[in-house]
Amino acid sequence: MAGGRPGKKRCPRAASAVLQCAGLRCPLMSVRRDTGNVRSRTLLGLSALAVIGAACAPNASQSALEPAGPYAQKSFDLFVPVFWVAAAIFFLVEGFLVFFAIRYRHRKGRTRIPAQVHGNTRLEVAWTILPTLILAGVAVPTVATIWDLAAEPEGDVLQVSVLGHQWWWEFDYPEQKILTANELHIPTGRPVYLTLCAAGFGYGAELPSDPGPPSPNECQPGPPDGLPPAGIGAAVIHSFWVPELAGTQDVVPGVTNHLTIQADEPGVYEGQCKEFCGLAHAYMKVKVVAHSPEDFDQWVAEQQTDAVAAEPGSNAAAGAEIFISQCTACHAIQGLADANGDPVVGNNGAPNLTHLMSRTCFRGCTLETNDANLRAWLADPAKIELGSFMPDYDLSPEELDQMVAYLSTLE
Ligand code: CUA
Repeated sequence: MAGGRPGKKRCPRAASAVLQCAGLRCPLMSVRRDTGNVRSRTLLGLSALAVIGAACAPNASQSALEPAGPYAQKSFDLFVPVFWVAAAIFFLVEGFLVFFAIRYRHRKGRTRIPAQVHGNTRLEVAWTILPTLILAGVAVPTVATIWDLAAEPEGDVLQVSVLGHQWWWEFDYPEQKILTANELHIPTGRPVYLTLCAAGFGYGAELPSDPGPPSPNECQPGPPDGLPPAGIGAAVIHSFWVPELAGTQDVVPGVTNHLTIQADEPGVYEGQCKEFCGLAHAYMKVKVVAHSPEDFDQWVAEQQTDAVAAEPGSNAAAGAEIFISQCTACHAIQGLADANGDPVVGNNGAPNLTHLMSRTCFRGCTLETNDANLRAWLADPAKIELGSFMPDYDLSPEELDQMVAYLSTLE
């Protein structure tokens, strides 16, 4: 196994063995061109660069190392000491390893076999007790933090239900009677207690001819009385994560979980679904928009209003007609009425669009809400989101204009 052909400069045998274990070759060993080896080394180097590069995004907005509220701060305050304990152990253990590997390496011409040692009670007791004490020491703040974060906050708390759909987040404010999607609006300085559950596509979606009752938009343990669990059954697992505001919480079909978030300062905090949930998992983002308490009250008041009816005879009114005939099987708009002024109740399997234009993003918060994006989305949803549940209605260019004109009125 000694490196190189006779006459070549040799690598130390230990170094050569270590390099071979790591899938590398000693650079002094051979100049033979082995394309397979070059390829694997290039791959290894590129992988290492990718790993390092991934840590260097200039505008990385999702960092658990920059907590923006008390709940994220608690996780961070636990992370820091545990990190330093782990780092100290790493450098100590690796330091000894490297030191011994170099200090007691095989040297040329040395043939003596070192003394063979079998067992050392004192050392073995020490390296059993020491890690036990360290782990027990780390467990105390860890368990305390877990209990602390799991406790339901008391006092002035905002309640919001978070429903994980394929592939978007829905937010239900039960006290304010607001249903919205993709953007979670919260007041600053106030704990927000999230109730998280997974939602299926909806009862209506199973039977296009008979839309049935609106899909469940609140976290509930099962389907409404007398109905098959179609909506619940189609649900899949997700995980809600906005790193600057809190740790992550899984969203599991048939289970109701909780998470408390809070932001200290007004701003936009980005997050995403963190659990693989199907084809468009990577398209399941979320924005938390934190307002001052006054601004939040204003947002609530605006969201509670009905959508304004499109002006009769306008492009938007034509779009509203298309919406009523094609879209209400899945989308609801509060205050929507047909040409006779009769209310139209849409199903809620897909995002509620009452105040669509008040949100900066749509399509799982991956597209900016503007006319061009809305038009592209309506024209060919599958081109934008692989596996999309949004059907392509084959709208003509004129119909697309009318739809965009209508959607633009939903402020
Ligand atoms: Cu939802 Cu991944």
